[in-house]
Amino acid sequence: MKKILVTGGLGYIGSHTVVELQNSGYQVLIIDNLSNSSLDVLEGITNITKTAPTFERLDLRLKADVADYFKKNQDIEGIIHFAASKAVGESVQNPLLYYENNLNTLIYLLQECNAYGIENFIFSSSCTVYGEPDSLPITENAPVKPATSPYGNTKQISEEILKDTCCISALKSIALRYFNPIGAHETAEIGELPAGVPQNLVPFITQTAAGVREQLSVFGDDYPTEDGSCVRDYIHVVDLAKAHVIALQRLLSKKNETQFEVFNLGTGRGSSVLEVVNSFETTTGEKLNYKIVDRRPGDVIAVYADTQKANKVLGWKAEKTMEDALESAWKWEKKIRNI
Ligand code: NAD
Ligand code: WQD
Repeated sequence: MKKILVTGGLGYIGSHTVVELQNSGYQVLIIDNLSNSSLDVLEGITNITKTAPTFERLDLRLKADVADYFKKNQDIEGIIHFAASKAVGESVQNPLLYYENNLNTLIYLLQECNAYGIENFIFSSSCTVYGEPDSLPITENAPVKPATSPYGNTKQISEEILKDTCCISALKSIALRYFNPIGAHETAEIGELPAGVPQNLVPFITQTAAGVREQLSVFGDDYPTEDGSCVRDYIHVVDLAKAHVIALQRLLSKKNETQFEVFNLGTGRGSSVLEVVNSFETTTGEKLNYKIVDRRPGDVIAVYADTQKANKVLGWKAEKTMEDALESAWKWEKKIRNI
């Protein structure tokens, strides 16, 4: 069994990926410092897969601890690196936290890859690197725009760090640029656990329907889109998780065409905020209390992926629908609120 290290494996996307990796026959080792997750997630993963992944609570900012970890675990064949801080607004308030947590951790891991000859590395990037796109759908060749937040900047710099490291070593890396991940595992054993007030649309919707929040604010209906609200490419987290297994297999079987590759992971379909709200109401039968408010500063008007590269080269395609995602997100919210 090939041993794969998943950093941030108890987080939202990481936990769903661990499930898919275990279901595909990989032995998974998780590192997480629990800064944005909980140990209960281990139980959820184990309930779904009937296998407990190996877990180590470790802060990847601690270089010496990272080095010790690799000294003890010398048979790792690949790394999927999710661990990072991800709140855009918080990154503006506390840029050094973001540069330290998102860049130092990557650098320390890559140093260990060099030291122990680990050649396969998958990185969580983001559609945020495209900023406000010049044309839609966005292909991987679209220019990376100057970052509008320290968070976005860390994703751009991380991609550069990976590219440069691949140039001078045996490292092969794939950066996966996620669009907007939503939904939960169909069993409701794992899902998204936002700390505090959710910044993202779907957790805010489900918390409002659950009565945790009084009202959803829809940020703007005067954008140049069909119904005036912003458009995004919402992708089911389980589809996203499966893409990681495929990307890993590509690296392990040396099918990659260049040492550093980038893929968009989205559905290829744009949905407006109001479409998501309506779809939630229709799918779940829940009435949502919402109002239109001012635009949120920094929001781009519309982004959705051109997924042809991932479709053709990886042989991966998003299979689940918006309804599947919203239904699973609602099932998860009801479970954690005991509704
Ligand atoms: P998440 O916060 O749920 O998961 C990240 C996990 O990493 C958490 O469990 C956290 O405890 C852990 N972690 C953070 N810093 C750590 C450190 N120093 N040492 C060890 N563990 C640490 O986030 P997510 O939504 O699952 O995102 C995973 C990755 O995908 C991140 O890199 C994020 O930037 C990226 N991404 C997320 C989205 C999104 O909308 N969720 C979109 C694009 C890209
Ligand atoms: C989606 C749409 C909001 C909340 C962020 C990061 C991006 C990436 C994904 C990591 C927007 C609207 C939201 C609410 C609303 N993350 N909205 N009311 O902004 O597309 O992307 O997450 O890499 O980098 O910026 O996602 O879920 O915050 O917003 O009307 O209460 O929903 O204005 O149009 P976003 P989101």
